[in-house]
Amino acid sequence: MSGKARAQSVALAITGASGALYAVRTLAELLARGVNVELVVSDYGRRLLRDELGEEAALEKIVPYLSSKYGAGVADGSLVVHSNRDLGATIASGSHHCTAMAIVPCSMKTLAGIAHGLSRNLVERAADVMLKERRPLVVVPRETPMSLPALRNMVLCAEAGATILPAMPAFYQLPKTLDDLADFMAGKILGALGFEHDLYPAWTGRVKMM
Ligand SMILES: Cc1cc2nc3c(=O)[nH]c(=O)nc-3n(C[C@H](O)[C@H](O)[C@H](O)COP(=O)(O)O)c2cc1C
Repeated sequence: MSGKARAQSVALAITGASGALYAVRTLAELLARGVNVELVVSDYGRRLLRDELGEEAALEKIVPYLSSKYGAGVADGSLVVHSNRDLGATIASGSHHCTAMAIVPCSMKTLAGIAHGLSRNLVERAADVMLKERRPLVVVPRETPMSLPALRNMVLCAEAGATILPAMPAFYQLPKTLDDLADFMAGKILGALGFEHDLYPAWTGRVKMM
């Protein structure tokens, strides 16, 4: 048996809800922490990356995109990209050593699939594995307004053990750019996954005007 420490593995899913910037920021932060990220992107998630961030953020080019936007530190981690159709991928099994999963952003369709344990694709199956193994599952839904089925599906997921962390950036940190908003969401997600971060200033009791 080797005494070498194994890098932490975290699953990250990107689905077809608006907010691709939150996903790439979260991915870059995990990689910069030396995490082995097991990434799975739905068909509409792939489309969202290109539609919202441009062709240079297409899944096939995601590593150079992350390094140019967030710096060379992303090379500290490793990235495995799984097909959403591959229900035999590592993260489809509870015996795999993946410690947590985030779905950023999470569409109402994928939310419904998780709430009802459908496991129709790898995103839903990997999420189901996290729930059955009692490991952290962070779901970042985005829709507005929300239908009653969507609201109920969030309750079902929360009752099953998931953290529902809606894509709702705050404004008390006085964001100036879209990246500031993405930093806030990525910080919330990293915190829910159990990582320390300084992606936004901690609340000090009052809004600090510059
Ligand atoms: C540009 C665009 C934006 C979308 N935004 C959302 C959204 O914010 N929330 C949502 O639930 N669905 C949104 N959708 C619809 C989902 O992409 C669609 O329901 C899809 O089937 C979700 O599949 P997936 O969960 O496998 O990615 C959007 C679709 C497009 C093309």
